[in-house]
Amino acid sequence: MSGRTALVTGGSRGVGRAVALRLAADGAAVAVNYRRDADAAAEAVAAIEAAGGTARAYRAPVDDPDAVAALPALVRADLGPVDLLVSNAGTASRGTAVADTADEEYLRLLRVHVLGPLALVRALLPDLRAAGRADVVVVSSAIVDAAPPGGAAYTMAKAALEAAARTLAREERAHGLRVNIVAPGLVATDMGERLVAATAGGATLAELDASYPFGRVARPEDVAGVVAFLASADAGYVTGQRLLVDGGGPDSRIVAASGGGR
Ligand SMILES: NC(=O)c1ccc[n+]([C@@H]2O[C@H](COP(=O)([O-])OP(=O)(O)OC[C@H]3O[C@@H](n4cnc5c(N)ncnc54)[C@H](OP(=O)(O)O)[C@@H]3O)[C@@H](O)[C@H]2O)c1
Repeated sequence: MSGRTALVTGGSRGVGRAVALRLAADGAAVAVNYRRDADAAAEAVAAIEAAGGTARAYRAPVDDPDAVAALPALVRADLGPVDLLVSNAGTASRGTAVADTADEEYLRLLRVHVLGPLALVRALLPDLRAAGRADVVVVSSAIVDAAPPGGAAYTMAKAALEAAARTLAREERAHGLRVNIVAPGLVATDMGERLVAATAGGATLAELDASYPFGRVARPEDVAGVVAFLASADAGYVTGQRLLVDGGGPDSRIVAASGGGR
């Protein structure tokens, strides 16, 4: 990763924070994007720097078109042109049934998970195409396979993101861009904790470990390792692929598939 510049959306907490730390440890300069928690972003940057890496924090809600349009130039000025985008920022839906979900909820989720990330890709494409080797890794969810009740807005958004990513992979192959999808089951993050609280009858994430594959709910680092692999030289002939990070079993999907919580 030495010499590369990675932009990790939602890189301040949870899965994105682990991805940012991992890519920095592997040698990339990392732009840590966040929405509103400046303290968490500063902490992630400090953790990277304490480990000898290079990082800067950038506030830009991915569902804010103006902020997204401005982001590539800001990162380029500080860290160089982005050649690796990890589109990870995301929020859960309200968990309502299709019968009770109005357009605005679908649009809210589509803006965060699909339209914002695609606007960011468009804004970054000149830099990505110029890089020779460049990567986009999108963080989707195992929920796309499960389509659980109450999760339509979130599931639709992730399914749309995956469709766009697979299309982008074919369109941009001639420019050296690899585009791949990582689809976790339940992950032990703030979002994961809220999903469990909303759907698992008052259980906590820690209480679920024993019933999960390999004796634990996935950790953010489990996802980060897969992202790092897909962006590495070892995966240079891999594009348009989707890798599930769910321990291989349906157990994690049942809970992660809730779509509940915020
Ligand atoms: N946790 C799970 O069980 C699970 C399972 C499958 C897939 N996923 C997916 O994995 C990704 C990361 O989830 P997580 O569990 O790490 O979530 P998390 O713990 O809630 O962290 C979310 C991160 O995204 C940022 N963010 C949220 N909305 C944003 C926006 N509009 N613009 C820019 N940044 C934004 C947050 O920044 P602020 O703190 O500043 O708001 C934070 O850094 C999401 O795409 C999620 O859908 C999660």
